[in-house]
Parts: sequence; structure tokens; C-alpha cells
Amino acid sequence: MCGIIGVVSGIDFKVSFLLERLKRLEYRGYDSYGYSDSRKTVKSLGAIKAEGLSLTRIGIAHTRWSTHGGVTRANAHPHESCNGEVIIAHNGIIENYWELKTILERQGHKFRSETDSEVVAHYFEEKIKQGKGVKKAISDFLKEVSGTFAILMMIKGEDKIYAIKRDSPLVLGICEGKKAGAKQIQKHILASDIYAFSDITDKAVFFENDEFAVVEAGAYEFYDAKGSLIKKKVQSFEWNQEEGKKKDYKHFMIKEIEEEPLVVSRMLLSLDHEQKDQFKKLVSLVKKSRKIIFAACGTSYHASLLGAFYLHTTGIEAQTLIASEFKHYANVDKDTLVIAISQSGETMDVIDALKYAQEKKATIVSLVNVPYSTIQRMSALSLNILAGQEVAVASTKAFVNQSVLLLRLAQEFGYKVNLSNLGEKIKGIFSQKDDIKRIAKQVSSSRDAYVLGRGQTYPVAREIALKVKEITYMHAEGMMGGELKHGTIALIDKGTPVISLIGCNDEDMVSNTKEVEARGAEIITITNNASQCRGSAKNTVFIDTDNDGKFGILACVAGQLLAYYVAEALGREIDKPRNLAKSVTVK
Ligand code: M6R
Repeated sequence: MCGIIGVVSGIDFKVSFLLERLKRLEYRGYDSYGYSDSRKTVKSLGAIKAEGLSLTRIGIAHTRWSTHGGVTRANAHPHESCNGEVIIAHNGIIENYWELKTILERQGHKFRSETDSEVVAHYFEEKIKQGKGVKKAISDFLKEVSGTFAILMMIKGEDKIYAIKRDSPLVLGICEGKKAGAKQIQKHILASDIYAFSDITDKAVFFENDEFAVVEAGAYEFYDAKGSLIKKKVQSFEWNQEEGKKKDYKHFMIKEIEEEPLVVSRMLLSLDHEQKDQFKKLVSLVKKSRKIIFAACGTSYHASLLGAFYLHTTGIEAQTLIASEFKHYANVDKDTLVIAISQSGETMDVIDALKYAQEKKATIVSLVNVPYSTIQRMSALSLNILAGQEVAVASTKAFVNQSVLLLRLAQEFGYKVNLSNLGEKIKGIFSQKDDIKRIAKQVSSSRDAYVLGRGQTYPVAREIALKVKEITYMHAEGMMGGELKHGTIALIDKGTPVISLIGCNDEDMVSNTKEVEARGAEIITITNNASQCRGSAKNTVFIDTDNDGKFGILACVAGQLLAYYVAEALGREIDKPRNLAKSVTVK
């Protein structure tokens, strides 16, 4: 988590430019932020204010998601060494920080924060004091320090930024500058991801693990861990800037839900055109492999559960594991196809699971939304889910596209589903917004909610409950309809909202719903069975579709809207819920 940014320019720029760039990374963490132009360091709590008229040619900034140490100004980055000569911003975790801190304290260094990151500043001050050149000190750092890091470092008096990477994402953006006489001045931007600068350049150099760079206004050099110069490729990337804007919507989340019909068609179309070859390769890898294991977290995990369900239905051996437990439960070998699912492509637990799978010689495929991300670059084959930039922390359109891609894959193996009208079907749910809002108002007065599903709607029940928890702060549990009577039913009380996902002919779900209704639960039904909508069924969202794999995905869209309107009724901070971050780059 955390976002870092550094800018070096041949001409003056306003500090507000640095902070505008940082604001584009705010979704990575938003507890506190700070910047330094190498003369002064400023830190604040809360949302980034992209202000600052003072001019500079160099600066680093950081937006924090706290790991070591609470949300305080002292713990905000950048951190300075004792003599203020070394200024750093860090994303990641220095695992042996305590050991390093103890040594540095013995050498007389005084620490001002509770963070693991501050050791980096003191470490380099000490090495420089010992007469080491910075590049040599970085090589030592890469040997002596364990953990994950993307670090930007300025040394007072030098117009350069040193950038070091291991396991946390880092990229260099190259901006063509204005002509000054015959000389073209370039601005270089170092950042956690390309979104920080994708509105001003489409050229980037990606750092690999244990590489570092020395970046100046008109030049940059990359080095390996030993300090030997290395050649790096400048890559051009495409990114749609429009999707990152909120326009007239109240929140990014509702804008992103409303984009679903569009992004779903775009992705399906790409599987027949631009991504046709990759898709064919994916199909052939699935055919060749003895078994499929998905690795994912959070919402992406729920999409992978759906994927496992669809593939299983066609007779393919498929399972999914939450990435942080992957190595404890997965039996992986060279005949296993591991499919990583990740919106950001940067989730540390998924990266770790893939490293484990690599060691076991499994083939790695990924479905990601952010191109050029670490997970994409670790994969033998990667497909883009093309959901477009997702800004709201609660993932919505990415879930839809991940699930639809997996459904499309299952179709190749005989799963019967008509995907051509999916966009229209999603719009059909939008037309019931008023009803959903009315139901949401009712739910918003409760402390708990339960979501029940079976088969294809079990993952969806979990996903809807996750959405409710994330953005409303209500307690919500998504569970298998069948499992309810084995304990959780004890929690059902008069008026407890239970959202029941009932597919056509799913008599078992009907019974499970009756069981909780008999105990006083307030039932909300999301169903494609018209008969469930008759008579007393006042709280019903009707999904006009067959019982094919689309039903679960469409039910989820209804659940996303329901969660959104509950959060709105409660006046929550919908796009940036407390304690969360969009990209989870720590274990
Ligand atoms: O970027 P990823 O898809 O790998 O992220 C995984 C989870 O962190 C993510 O889905 C998280 O659960 C979302 N906030 C859910 O809305």
C-alpha cells in the first residue's frame, strides 16, 4: 500500500504539481501524506490538498496506509535522517528494521517516528558518513536489508533522486519537456504506478526487483544490485484518462457500476479481436493442464470462486485459494495451471502465491486490470479484463469483467450461456434503482445483514456481503444457504435483513429462505424466478435472465447497488472507506 512519487525537472515546477501527481495515487492509502522539495518537508493528516505555489526542480511525496506506527504526523513520510541530509519516501515493509534501528541507535542516531521506514534515512546517512558513495551504499542496502520496498531518496545539495525497488511496485515516467533553446528538457517522474503520470506521458521504464536508478532532469541510469549499469527498455503504454474522472457522479463507485454494460462488451469484444490469440492460448493451457488453481484475494477471490464453479460444471478440475493461504493448501506441480486474478496486479499476497507456484514449476496465467503491473509481468500469459481504471476502493466493474471472462472461458469447454445480451441485462437492473434504494433505506437501520446463496450464487453472496461491510461498516455475512442451519441461524432475530439469492428451480434456496423467514428475518430476494416476485414479496429485485451463469453476475450487480445505497443512506465515505486501500501491497 502507500503511494510514492518523485519529480526531477530541468525547469521549475510548482509543489502543487507534485501533489496533484500524488493525489492520483491516493487510492493506495490515505491516512496521511507529505512531501519534501529537499529544502523543507511538510506533512499532514487526511486527504491530500494539491496546493503549494513554491517552485522547485525536485521533490518527493508519499501518501500513507499505516502499517508500523499509528496515523500521526511524525509517522507520515518523507522521513529525514538526523542531519536532515537524507530524505526518503518508502512503500513496503523493512522486515529487519528493529535490528537495523538498534545498530543505528548505538551509533548515535535519534529516531523521530515509530515507522520501519525511518531506518532507511539513518542507514544512508551512516553509510555516507563512513565515506561510502551513495551507489555503493545502495548495493550494501540491497544485501543487508530484508523486506519489500520501493524507495525514493534525495540527498541535500544533489539534484537527483535515487530510486530502489524490491517487491513493491516502482516505475519511471519519461515526460518530453519544453524546448529551451536547442535543448529539450525532460521531466522524470518516479511513481508507484503509471496512473500517477498517465495523463502526461505514455512512456515508462519499469523497475525489476533489486534494481536501482539514479534519476536527474535530463538523464537516468539503471543499475543492478551489484551497482553495474544495466540497459532498460522504454515501454509505451495505453491508458484511458477519461475513465479516471468522476464527472457528474456523486461517487466513483456508482459511476463505475454504471460503466459495467460498456466495459463488459468491450472486454468480450476484445476476446474475439485484440486479445484473441491470448484467449486461444489460455484455452489451450487449460486443456493441457492436469488441474487449475486460482489465486486471488477479496473481490477477485470471489470472482475466482465463480470461475472454479463454471469450470467445474464443465468437468475441469478447478479450485481456488485465497492467495495468503495458497502455499498452505495448494498442491502445485509442473502440470498445474495457476491463474492469478487481480484488479491491481500488485496484491502482495497474490505475488507471493505466484512466487511459490513458480518454485514448483507451475505455469502462471493472470487476469488483471492494470496493465504492466507486477502480476502481469510475472505471468507466462496475461489477459486484460479491460474494466478501465477503477478508483473506488470497493471493486465493482472489475468483478463483473473478471467473472464474465471466466464464464466466457467455461463456454469454450461447453458451458451453455448467452453472453451477447449481458450489457442489456445489466441495464435492466439499473432500471430498478428506485426499488433498490427503497430496500436499502430499510436495511440501513440494521446492525447486521446476511446474504445467502448456493452454487453460482454462493460466491456472489460473499461478494455482496463484502461490499456491504466495506462501504457501510455494517456487519454482513455472505454464506451458503445450506450452512446457515449449522450455527449462524442463531443470530437471526426479528427484522434481521437476509438477502436471498434464489435461482429458478432452486428449491433448496427457497427452503433456506423460509427457514429464516420463520424466525422473523426480513427477506430481500434477488431472483430470476418470476413466481418469487408475486404476492407478498415486496422486497424483490427481479433479474430477467435464464438460470445460466449470468444470473450470479447480474445478482451481484443488484447487490452492488444495494450496498451503495445503504452506504449513501448512512452518509458513509463511499469511495475511500476507513482503514482500506485500493492496492494491498503488504502481506
Ligand atoms: O487488486 P486485487 O484485485 O488483487 O485486490 C484484491 C483485494 O484487495 C480487493 O478485491 C479488495 O477486497 C476490494 N477492496 C474489494 O472491494
